[in-house]
Amino acid sequence: MHRRPESPSGTAALAVLCILLASALAGCRREAALPPPPQTAIAVAPAVGLSGAVSPTDAVPQGMEFADLKSRVDWRARMLASGTLSEPAKSSVSRGQALFAKVFTPQNGLGPFFNNTSCLACHNLPDPLGHGSPEVTTHFWAGEYPGNDANEATNPRLMPRFTAEGHAPFAMPPQFVKSGDRLPPQLMGLGWIEAVPGEQIRAQPHLDKPEPGVHTEPKGWVPDKVEAARGTMRFGLKPAVGTVDEFIIGALHAELGVTTPNRAFNKDDDTTADPEMTFSEVVDLANFVALSTPPARPLPAEHAAGLETFKTIGCAACHWSAFTVEGKPTPQFYSDLLVHDMGKALADVHQMESTPPSYSRSTPLWSMHLNPGPYLHDGRAPTVEAAILAHAGEGTKARDAFAALDAPAKKVLVDAVRAL
Ligand code: HEC
Ligand code: HEC
Repeated sequence: MHRRPESPSGTAALAVLCILLASALAGCRREAALPPPPQTAIAVAPAVGLSGAVSPTDAVPQGMEFADLKSRVDWRARMLASGTLSEPAKSSVSRGQALFAKVFTPQNGLGPFFNNTSCLACHNLPDPLGHGSPEVTTHFWAGEYPGNDANEATNPRLMPRFTAEGHAPFAMPPQFVKSGDRLPPQLMGLGWIEAVPGEQIRAQPHLDKPEPGVHTEPKGWVPDKVEAARGTMRFGLKPAVGTVDEFIIGALHAELGVTTPNRAFNKDDDTTADPEMTFSEVVDLANFVALSTPPARPLPAEHAAGLETFKTIGCAACHWSAFTVEGKPTPQFYSDLLVHDMGKALADVHQMESTPPSYSRSTPLWSMHLNPGPYLHDGRAPTVEAAILAHAGEGTKARDAFAALDAPAKKVLVDAVRAL
């Protein structure tokens, strides 16, 4: 990745979302107005739908420093599998919920370069952790893919929408071009995705090495990260991050301009003392995201035929999960958590991580019933049908099989996908 890891849990993976802002972001295209505060009310409900007896061993692991990431992921995995949130976990989650909604200002750490003023402002529909609006698309820029010896000068960056008053406007390095756009995805239940053992992801029968442009049926690959909690990357479209905590450290820095004690992201140029957020706060945020209720639900019976078509025409080859965490089946993600070659039209312009530009993670479809669209990573597809027809590369055969269905059969399939 772009940076040498600085602890076993590493910061390398943060590169995508994170380094971007590193020393010089400053989009400032629309410096005039800050985005309006989020409208969604946050109910500080007793977290996430888990209940039951409290085990005395289930205290939040003491070490809040980043090196203890792995034990924290283990701890969350055990709790998810047990269906029980301990009291310390519940308190952490409710502190995290408040931080998720916290509106940052230049006085408490926002900026100098930023894309919005809170997590909630982007991850907000239909629930606090839900899909965001296309208004808050994140724009990645990149130079030539720098490989593993990357440095600050060549790391990809986010083009920030705003620059705090009193700061020089951002100058993107001249050789950088816009590489790709991303809509904010939903974040519910991400602890389940975080907890899946990397060996299970790698054990899937269609695993192969990346060969862009070669396959028209599912193959799939996964970027490894041996020192990560579960051994493989799984967050982000590319995906370049292995844990919720690491992604959040990157998001705080890149999207909000908020620094944390992590060495790669512990300083910025504004007047608020660094780090602007403590590790305990990062952990609370991560616990809130990871332990939130998964969006999965039993598919209503009237969609049984549509689901059958989903399997027979090849959608389930990529959009299906059969994983266990601590011996317990995970909710159905409708994703194999692998990346696939999706063809040139869906590719980024430049490679930003070890994942080739045309490869993307099978989007988990478990929140489709909550997602009004638009779809695909940059929101280019206004409808589910348009999203399916945009599948190319390894999705070609399934797309063609969909296109060959008659109109009523298409509708049955699309209605089922919208209900997942
Ligand atoms: C300006 C909008 C914006 C803000 C603010 C923002 N995010 Fe995100 N978030 C995104 C986008 C866009 C992605 C998808 C990135 C990708 O796929 O590479 C994302 C992805 C994520 C993911 C990974 C989801 C997955 O399934 O892979 C997590 C976790 C996350 N954000 C948490 C947060 C948290 C916590 C905050 C607040 C500290 C936050 N984000 C602030 C836009 C935002
Ligand atoms: C080769 C693997 C593969 C196959 C087969 C496949 N998909 Fe996908 N699907 C993906 C990937 C990867 C993405 C993310 C693409 C992007 O956003 O650029 C995706 C995205 C989607 C989305 C958009 C989700 C969102 O929230 O943006 C929908 C809907 C979808 N697929 C449905 C289907 C259906 C229905 C089929 C069968 C006709 C199918 N897919 C077959 C890999 C696959």
